Amino acid sequence: MKTVIEYLKKKQTCFVAELCDYLRFPSVSAQPQHKKDLIACAEWLVNHCRKIGLDAKICPTAGHPIVVAKTPRTKNSRKPHFMVYGHYDVQPPEPLDLWKSPPFEPHIVGRSIFARGSTDNKGQNFAHLKAVEAYLKTGTPLPCDLTFIIEGEEEVGSENLSVFLKKNRHELKCDAVVVSDTGMPGPKHPAFTYALRGIIAFEIKLHGPSRDLHSGVFGGAVENPAMALSQLIAKLRNANGKISIPHFYDDVAPLSKLERQQAARFPLKDRELQKLLGAPKLFGERGFTAMEQRSARPTFEINGLTSGYQGKGNKTIVPAWASAKITCRLVPNQKPSHIRKLVCDHLKKICPPTVRMEIEAGHGAEAYLVSPVSAQAQAALRALEKSFGHKPILMREGGSIPIVNEFKKILGADSLLLGLGLPDDNAHSPNEKFNLDCFAKGQLMSAHLWQELSNA
Ligand code: BES
Ligand code: MN
Repeated sequence: MKTVIEYLKKKQTCFVAELCDYLRFPSVSAQPQHKKDLIACAEWLVNHCRKIGLDAKICPTAGHPIVVAKTPRTKNSRKPHFMVYGHYDVQPPEPLDLWKSPPFEPHIVGRSIFARGSTDNKGQNFAHLKAVEAYLKTGTPLPCDLTFIIEGEEEVGSENLSVFLKKNRHELKCDAVVVSDTGMPGPKHPAFTYALRGIIAFEIKLHGPSRDLHSGVFGGAVENPAMALSQLIAKLRNANGKISIPHFYDDVAPLSKLERQQAARFPLKDRELQKLLGAPKLFGERGFTAMEQRSARPTFEINGLTSGYQGKGNKTIVPAWASAKITCRLVPNQKPSHIRKLVCDHLKKICPPTVRMEIEAGHGAEAYLVSPVSAQAQAALRALEKSFGHKPILMREGGSIPIVNEFKKILGADSLLLGLGLPDDNAHSPNEKFNLDCFAKGQLMSAHLWQELSNA
C-alpha cells in the first residue's frame, strides 16, 4: 500500500493534466450534434485505460458507446469482483454567456478545476482509474478483480446500459458496484450516500391555433396556449408546496425518526444553503426541513418552458403552441410507471377543450435505498475515514442515478455511493468545478477501498 500511496502523491500534476484532456471533449449526450464527440471521448478513455494497464474495449450500443475496462485476471479467478461505475457524458453547458471560462477548456483557479463534467462525473470516475493505475504501475497485487463500466448516457436515462447489463449479466456478475457520482457536504465531511431519488421525465405540449396569430386582430377570441399551460401547471402545486395530483403521495415511504435526526445533523444549514443557491428565500413542502425536502420527498419540477417569440424586442402574437419539460423526483416505494399514469390522467382531466394536449414520455427510474450498516458499507466507511481523515456521515441525496436499480435487479449487486462532489461544485449549472483535493483524496479512498472491501 505504501508504494501505491507514494505513486499517487508523486503523480498529481500529471493526473490533473490528463483530467484536462478528458474534460476537453464536449460529450453532451442530450444533443445529437455531439454524437461524434461522445465517440471520441470514449475512444480516448479506452486508450487511456489500456495505457494504465487495463484490458479495455469500447462497446457500441443503440446510443452512445460504453467503455468496459478490466484489471488483468486469471481465468478462474476466485478473488472478489467489484465494479466501478461512472459516466463520461455531461449535461448541456448552456447558457454559455454565464461561464467565466469556456465549458470545454478546463481552467484551474486555486484548488478548483472549472469545466462542464468536472465533478459530474469525469473527475470522480477518473479518481478511481488513477487509483487502479497506482496498483498496476507499482506492481502491487490487487486483492480483487475490478471492472470499470463508464457509460455515455447517464444524463439521458441509461436505457442502453440496462440492455447491455442484461446481455452480459454473467460476465458482469459482481459483489458490489462502487459509484462516485454523488456529493459530500464539505471537504471535512466525507459521505456515504444510502439513498437516491427516482425520476420520471416528460414533455407537455399544448396546441392552440394552427399558426402564430396577430394578437391584436385575433387575441381575446382564441385561447393563448402559453396562458393555458401556465394555468394548467399552476394547478399542480398548492401554496404549501404540496403537489396537487390525486394519489401522488399514496406510496411515499415516510421518514423514520432516526432519519429525521440524521437529516438535521447535515452540516450545511438552511441559511448557508440559501446563500449558496442565491435565492431570495427558500421554499418547499411545509412540514419538512430543506434537507428532507431535497432528499426524501417527491417533487414536480418544470425544467424548461417554451412558447412564442424568444428573440429581442417584442412580437405581438398569440403563439400556436406552448410546451413544458417536466421531471418529477420520486422516493422509495413510488413506482415510476404508476406515477406517470397518475400525472398524465390528471393533466388530461383538467386540460381545457380550447387546446389539444400532447404528452411525450421520457426516461424513468425508481428511487434507491441501500443498507448503511452492511459489512460492505462499513468497509466503505473505513476507506472514507482513512483517506479523508474525518468520520464520514450517512446521507440521503436527491439526485438520481437510474442504473443503480438495474445493478441490483440484473446483477444482484448493491451500489456503494461514495461521492466526491461539493455543494458548490455547480453540477448541471454554469461554472461547474471539481475540487482537486477531493480528486486526490478520492484516489486514496479508492486505493484503500479495495483492501477494505475485499476483507469485508
Ligand atoms: N451525479 C448525478 C446524480 C446525483 C447528483 C446524485 C448529486 C446525488 C447527488 C447524475 O449525473 C445526474 O445528474 N443524474 C440525473 C439523472 C437523470 C437525467 C435521469 C439527475 O439526477 O438529474
Ligand atoms: Mn448529472
